[in-house]
Amino acid sequence: MSVDAIVGAQWGDEGKGRVVDYLATNCDMVIRYQGGDNAGHTVINDYGKFALHILPSGIFNPKTLCLVGAGTVVNFNTMEEELQSVEAAGVNTDNLFVDKRAHLIMPFHCMLDGAEEAKRSKKWSVGTTKRGIGPVYSDKASRIGIRAVDILDPERLRARLEMMMPKKNRDLEYYGLDTITVDEMMDLCASWREKFGKRIIDSVPILRDAVLGGKNVLFEGQLGIMRDLDWGIYPYTTSSNPTAGGTCSGAGISPKRIDNIYGVVKAYSTSVGGGPFPVELFDADGEKLRDIGGEYGATTGRPRRCGWFDAVAAAYSCWINGFTHLAMTKLDVLDHFDTIKVCTHYKIGDEIIDYVPETALQDIAVPVYEEWEGWKSDTTGIRKWEDLPQKAQVYLKRLEELTGAPMKFISVGPERDQIIVID
Ligand code: GDP
Ligand code: IMO
Ligand code: MG
Repeated sequence: MSVDAIVGAQWGDEGKGRVVDYLATNCDMVIRYQGGDNAGHTVINDYGKFALHILPSGIFNPKTLCLVGAGTVVNFNTMEEELQSVEAAGVNTDNLFVDKRAHLIMPFHCMLDGAEEAKRSKKWSVGTTKRGIGPVYSDKASRIGIRAVDILDPERLRARLEMMMPKKNRDLEYYGLDTITVDEMMDLCASWREKFGKRIIDSVPILRDAVLGGKNVLFEGQLGIMRDLDWGIYPYTTSSNPTAGGTCSGAGISPKRIDNIYGVVKAYSTSVGGGPFPVELFDADGEKLRDIGGEYGATTGRPRRCGWFDAVAAAYSCWINGFTHLAMTKLDVLDHFDTIKVCTHYKIGDEIIDYVPETALQDIAVPVYEEWEGWKSDTTGIRKWEDLPQKAQVYLKRLEELTGAPMKFISVGPERDQIIVID
């Protein structure tokens, strides 16, 4: 048995979905612990190709119980669409449940997310996915939010909405948007109750029994540490904690119970949205990484900003998250480069540092690189460490040394079986 967390180790889009899909083939439970349908987790398997937003990436194994945990925020409208799309591919989704404590994303959260973003100047633009994430977590922190459990009890729901809606309508009016009545919200929630009521459960006894019963449990993170509300590039962050610590608060598990924490890390760097990104390339190498890596947002389709591997950020990530192992993805994208660079330090003014400074300093940080010779051969068919080109092994060993965690998985293509497992 094993209780493991899968955590984004960079700026998001590291390939968490494909790692969870692979591990879920032998897993009893997968729990999403934070975030909402701002996620875009690409999974390619026998059912087809999917970009999962709120469904846990274990959904394709009918024997895996999939939980959308207490720390997440749920939009039942988009969940319904997503369920329909995987069901159309022949997937049985009876294994999906939502914790009673999860907060609900309402239509006005999405409207306000878009309006707030539009008001920000270019410098302060977060580039949100406009899925209502910031507004819904703000309401949660303000203790006016609506939780999944609330829609099961219409009387309680009406009382909560009567408290919440005047404030929300004031915000909508401020942005020149249409206001919404309590009755309209009651109708929407009634339709959600009908469609999702049976899936709203208390995850605590289920997770407790699974852990005490020796089952395999996976916690699936959304996004990555550099967009963590506390440890990322605030204010260009999301509004929850993708870091390993978020697993404990979001899924309701003690840190003592987690066996392995896998940091999912891309063999180079990408970021989508605003904020500093010291290793960003504006040259032909950046374009080549984007083209070969297919670096376009799974949720918004936006081109991702690309750069070489940032070992300063990865070492910071490894420390804060306490990775026991790394799952390195997209090694095959580097097959095509004569020279591969790794950022080992940042230069800020005259100072050279090996740690991640506060956001404003990241804006002026200049990456210091070391260079490695590329292996220039196709790794996509390789399934064993010893079959990797010598130069690729040297590169990967150097990344382990710089980040401080050993590699357990190396993926060499997007398909489920394109993975090297290191014993
Ligand atoms: P996530 O949000 O962390 O799950 O990552 P995304 O799905 O947003 O982005 C990862 C992208 O890389 C997806 O398009 C995957 O299909 C693709 N991918 C994942 N692993 C590999 C790999 O090893 N090689 C290649 N070429 N593509 C990969
Ligand atoms: P996965 O799970 C990459 C970015 C947005 C924006 C910031 C805040 O697929 O890795 P939000 O909508 O959360 O308020 O946006 O975070 N962002 C992501 N970037 N991958 C994601 O998810 C992201 N989810 C949000 O671009 O800068
Ligand atoms: Mg993604």
